[in-house]
Amino acid sequence: MHFLKYRTKEYRNLGEGSLLIKSSQLIFVTTTFNGIQNFVYQQLVTMNEVLNAIYKRRAVRKYTAEVVKETELEIILDAGRMAPSAMNKQGWMFHVANDPELIAVLSASILHDGKFAMLKEGLKEAIDSLLHPKGFSLKDAMNFFRGQDPIFHGAPLVIFLSCPKNNTWSALDLGMCAQNMMLAAYSIGLASCPIGLATFIEKTSHYEKLHVKKDHEIRLAIIFGHAAEEPILHERKKDNVVFIK
Ligand SMILES: Cc1cc2nc3c(=O)[nH]c(=O)nc-3n(C[C@H](O)[C@H](O)[C@H](O)COP(=O)(O)O)c2cc1C
Repeated sequence: MHFLKYRTKEYRNLGEGSLLIKSSQLIFVTTTFNGIQNFVYQQLVTMNEVLNAIYKRRAVRKYTAEVVKETELEIILDAGRMAPSAMNKQGWMFHVANDPELIAVLSASILHDGKFAMLKEGLKEAIDSLLHPKGFSLKDAMNFFRGQDPIFHGAPLVIFLSCPKNNTWSALDLGMCAQNMMLAAYSIGLASCPIGLATFIEKTSHYEKLHVKKDHEIRLAIIFGHAAEEPILHERKKDNVVFIK
């Protein structure tokens, strides 16, 4: 295990990972975090609640039946509303589904009505890698009808996010809003997963239930609930920084 110590008084760039920190405490730099060989500022991450949430949030695809309370839902929505938005447009809309039966119906419709559109748009590969590491097979489809849910993963809360169409910034705004919501959820003990496949809701007969504004479109959904699994951390690529000279 690689181990370094830094004593810092001010903002300082620690180099690897270009992390800016402000602390008068010892910062332990380690290469191991959840078994992944990576430089992660473990001590800082543990100490700092924001960093802790950023590092520990995972896409969770297995949930208990425990419902998300109204107060928790309000915290998640408010965190989304606190996101920055270009020209402060705050163009996002939240479409909330928290009835398990309705979620199951929406899920089945997306799987059924959306599959041709998914294939047509060349998303089969994406579906395979997102949902099933070994590919989406007939067995998976059978499992779905046996009660497993490959779209919303049995989560008790689904929030669809819509934003204005044909606007350069609105999808970026929505992404920031979504991440705020997932980090807020993590901070209050809830798990989440972004669901791009949920956009195929517009191919289904249930789309009107969402009351999406005429000039808006669904760009993402996020599922929330109590985790029934602890997904592993996927290693992050590190060869993605260019220093402009
Ligand atoms: C825009 C977007 C769409 C996604 N769509 C799906 C999806 O439809 N189904 C799913 O199970 N996961 C989906 N994911 C979750 C990613 O697969 C997951 O975030 C990624 O594998 C990294 O894992 P982590 O979030 O645990 O770090 C999506 C993530 C993003 C950002």
